[in-house]
Amino acid sequence: MGESLLIGPEFFFGRMIKRSSIQAAGEDYARIGCVAGNFCYWDTRTAIINEDVFATKNVGAESIDLVVTSPPYNVDIQYTSHNDKVTYGEYREFSRAWMERAFGWLKPDGRFCLNIPLDKNKGGQQSVGADLTTIAKEIGFKYHSTIIWNEGNISRRTAWGSWVSASAPYVIAPVELIVVLYKDSWKKTSGSRRSDITREEFLEWTNGLWTFNGERKKRIGHPAPFPVELPMRCMKLFSFTGDTVLDPFMGSGSTLVAASRNNRKGIGIEIDPRYCEIAADRIKREGQPAHE
Ligand SMILES: C[S@@+](CC[C@H](N)C(=O)[O-])C[C@H]1O[C@@H](n2cnc3c(N)ncnc32)[C@H](O)[C@@H]1O
Repeated sequence: MGESLLIGPEFFFGRMIKRSSIQAAGEDYARIGCVAGNFCYWDTRTAIINEDVFATKNVGAESIDLVVTSPPYNVDIQYTSHNDKVTYGEYREFSRAWMERAFGWLKPDGRFCLNIPLDKNKGGQQSVGADLTTIAKEIGFKYHSTIIWNEGNISRRTAWGSWVSASAPYVIAPVELIVVLYKDSWKKTSGSRRSDITREEFLEWTNGLWTFNGERKKRIGHPAPFPVELPMRCMKLFSFTGDTVLDPFMGSGSTLVAASRNNRKGIGIEIDPRYCEIAADRIKREGQPAHE
């Protein structure tokens, strides 16, 4: 068994998660119906908050060591509870608003791994990676580096702009970004100060070109999951064991699965009750609950 991790009242402003209620449930986990505004799953190291990221009051100010997330990309993905097709100006304001919340939740030495596209190719070219990084810096985040994630996506291209002609060709890079930012100081002083990254992992992952496959939507039952490998690398590289990791756009819970397997506390915020159910099931199936 790893170190004992407790998500408790000292951890949330919330009233709902207490050690006594976890024990009263007769198990190391508890589950209540995913009605928007309620927690819908917790165990001693994981909590799912089924709420709008803009509305929740259930994450404490300066309580988070690491935010790892992939927000909606505004590429017309058919989410059940979110409109993923707004103007680029509206998308920038949406991004500013949620990143301001994330900034408030991070500890002074907290870090932020932001998985976003490099650019947008459909419906008007946009420099999404550069624009969201600039907004994060305007909010107060400090820039550390950018990891390029090569998804190995060799899907057949259909849009060429102009075929074998310089008239108006499209250039598309089959990669995504993981922008690494932090709040006040890059040197991490809080927490257990225990790292669990191996020498080989450190050597490989500090090279900012990461190559691994994306996740299959069908397998997960979510329209845009990232693979557990992505948050797992971020948390082993940028957080200590026992740290608290937040994903404000939790989706199917990949970040919480990685946290659960790697001895971190995980909090996920997700607006859609169905995705919360999927995440709760995944944590039970794919995670490693604290009692194991
Ligand atoms: C790109 S997906 C995240 C996928 C996740 N990384 C995974 O592996 O499954 C973005 C998620 O944000 C959720 N979402 C959109 N708007 C939200 C909001 N205002 N508050 C909370 N969640 C929101 C969507 O329902 C969707 O599940």
